[in-house]
Amino acid sequence: MSRTFYVNGEFVAEENAKISVLDRGFLFADAVYEVSTILAGKLIDNKAHLKRLARSLSELSMAPPCPDDEIQSAQLKLLELNEVSEGLLYLQVSRGVADRDFAYPKEAKSSLVMFTQAKNLLKSPMAESGMHVISIPDLRWKRRDIKTVGLLAPSMGKQAAMDAGVHDAWMVEDGLVTEGTSNNAYIVTADKKIQTRHLGSEILSGITRTAVLKFAKEAGYTVVEEPFTIEQARQASEAFITSASTFVMPVVNIDGVNLGDGTPGPVSRQLRQVYIETALAHQDL
Ligand code: PDD
Repeated sequence: MSRTFYVNGEFVAEENAKISVLDRGFLFADAVYEVSTILAGKLIDNKAHLKRLARSLSELSMAPPCPDDEIQSAQLKLLELNEVSEGLLYLQVSRGVADRDFAYPKEAKSSLVMFTQAKNLLKSPMAESGMHVISIPDLRWKRRDIKTVGLLAPSMGKQAAMDAGVHDAWMVEDGLVTEGTSNNAYIVTADKKIQTRHLGSEILSGITRTAVLKFAKEAGYTVVEEPFTIEQARQASEAFITSASTFVMPVVNIDGVNLGDGTPGPVSRQLRQVYIETALAHQDL
């Protein structure tokens, strides 16, 4: 069955899902996006994703394509049309179509496109084996708090990880880990504290991060929002990442050094389980 895409108010087959060559998302990466999880046919924490979308748009003075309730009903219709029970919903808003000019065009109308990708998220073999990561320099721009589609630097990082035979890369700036190529990064210290970089323009405020830090505190863990070095990470008892597509995913090896015995540790396992159970029980975390 061919997938249905959403393009500016229309539900169309993939071959008819088209955007102009003059779209500013294409020419300038002048576009923002969100990736929401679909579990048991429902969107997880979608309100929080729409809130972050509104913030990204506002930081770039980009007009919303339509009110949130219209976006939400289009999302639900797309899930229904594509009959996705587990996977991801991708949503992108660009500033729209205009002749190429660096300054924002006055007349452009924001465009909205969406599609779904079916994917097994719950039964991930990597959750059992753990991820291996390498460290790389963070080559991204300085407003990583805005979820823009300008993703070439993280894409280069992910490819460097593939070329090195590992799963992902952690990006380092001024000697400190910022985040993974498409996820937030955490360590669990020897005294069982959960440490992750504080929010700011250097990293994306992950929707999964907010939920997982809340669950961690509820479970009695001390959360330290401070950056860490790769050396600290290599000496940590555990490490993990979070994102909408991976939930909580254990990291067991950094730059070739195993953490502990090189298998997923109890804290990462517990937080993954709590996240999944809560997501399956409640759509808003
Ligand atoms: N990436 N940091 C970066 C740089 C990201 O690209 C993402 C998400 C996150 C985690 O955010 P959240 O928990 O809201 O998914 C952190 C998505 C999944 C992607 O680009 O596919």
